[in-house]
Amino acid sequence: MSRTKLKRFTEISERHNVLEDNKPLYQQLKGNWNKDYFPKDQPITLELACGKAHYTTGLAAEFPDRNFIGIDVKGDRLWVGSTIALENNLTNTAFLRAQIEHLDQFFDQNEVSEIWITFPDPRPRKRDMKRRLTSPRFLELYKQVMKPGGIVNFKTDNTQLFEYTLELFEDRKDIELIDHTFDLYNSPLNELHYGICTDFERKFKEKGEDIKYLRFKFKA
Ligand SMILES: C[S@@+](CC[C@H](N)C(=O)[O-])C[C@H]1O[C@@H](n2cnc3c(N)ncnc32)[C@H](O)[C@@H]1O
Repeated sequence: MSRTKLKRFTEISERHNVLEDNKPLYQQLKGNWNKDYFPKDQPITLELACGKAHYTTGLAAEFPDRNFIGIDVKGDRLWVGSTIALENNLTNTAFLRAQIEHLDQFFDQNEVSEIWITFPDPRPRKRDMKRRLTSPRFLELYKQVMKPGGIVNFKTDNTQLFEYTLELFEDRKDIELIDHTFDLYNSPLNELHYGICTDFERKFKEKGEDIKYLRFKFKA
């Protein structure tokens, strides 16, 4: 392991705003985020596969009246979001080191108001379909923790993953697709993003990829 990674792991192990295994609060968060972690009881937004958590920190600065949690398995990436939050006194943020597969262990029913899924790994192989973050197994998890009417936003460069998701929704009676675009930067929907650009998004844009975006909600 590189020295930078090691240093970051040590630092996040001592930080209040990173929740990871072996910290006392980690096992006690389900249903208690607004009571035991955040200073203010406010609607909670999750950023899944957040990496350096640009949406978590960007939206938290934009919306002080909401709470934001970036979730990823990689501690060195969460360190970046955690550092931005500390430097900017974003007390309405948290960084959770966990597998999205375990979302229901960390959030109670109706605890989450909004979800962002930002540039998840596309998992193009057929045998990895179940691991796509918009596959039915993950949709069930999101549905379990979300408040009725809560919106899920999904942003990707990957056309195959985007089309897979749109096709899946055609057969889902419980999902209402609100908006979608294959070219976010030339769409009025870009206003919903407050100029936030993630690390992977920047890389894909430089390669000339169009950014795709959709948002949907689970019907009551
Ligand atoms: C392609 S990166 C995108 C990161 C960031 N959203 C961005 O746009 O820069 C995908 C991220 O998903 C995380 N990830 C992949 N599978 C995951 C899982 N099952 N649970 C939690 N995080 C996961 C990876 O660690 C990685 O940081």
